[in-house]
Amino acid sequence: MVREAMKVVVGADHGGFRLKEKISLFLRSKGYEVTDLGARHENPSDDYPDFARAVAESVRAGEAARGIIICGSGVGASIAASKFPGVRAAVCHDSYSAHQGVEHDDMNVLCLGERVVGEELAKEIVALFLEARFSAGERHVRRLEKIRRIEEEIMEADVL
Ligand code: RB5
Repeated sequence: MVREAMKVVVGADHGGFRLKEKISLFLRSKGYEVTDLGARHENPSDDYPDFARAVAESVRAGEAARGIIICGSGVGASIAASKFPGVRAAVCHDSYSAHQGVEHDDMNVLCLGERVVGEELAKEIVALFLEARFSAGERHVRRLEKIRRIEEEIMEADVL
């Protein structure tokens, strides 16, 4: 049986640009279908929310199964991406969180900090993130439903 390649979207500001280039190459060599949503060049004046937004919107729209955003620390990217309902983004600089975040929390966007993590560890982390699957355990589904309700209630409160 031929397995369809998982679609992955990647994005980075200047703080994560170099690592994004390396991770994109690595993932393509592993057979993933990678779409790069920028930055196209290393531009010290660019802003991480623009790339976090592009990746989050793409994942939210179902254009890709998973997203990866890289900035200097991973923190700004995760703050921005988590504003999008249905996007579950987190910074993970260790292997346990990279797979457990998917298995328990259905994390669909991984954020990395180029200034924090080395290239080889980053490759291990993205591989674990992309290979992991949500366990669909009853308690995990219940917790995700609570998060979904938070998003719904906040959005309703905002339009009132
Ligand atoms: C950019 O200099 C840097 O602030 C940004 O990449 C990121 O680390 C924010 O969290």
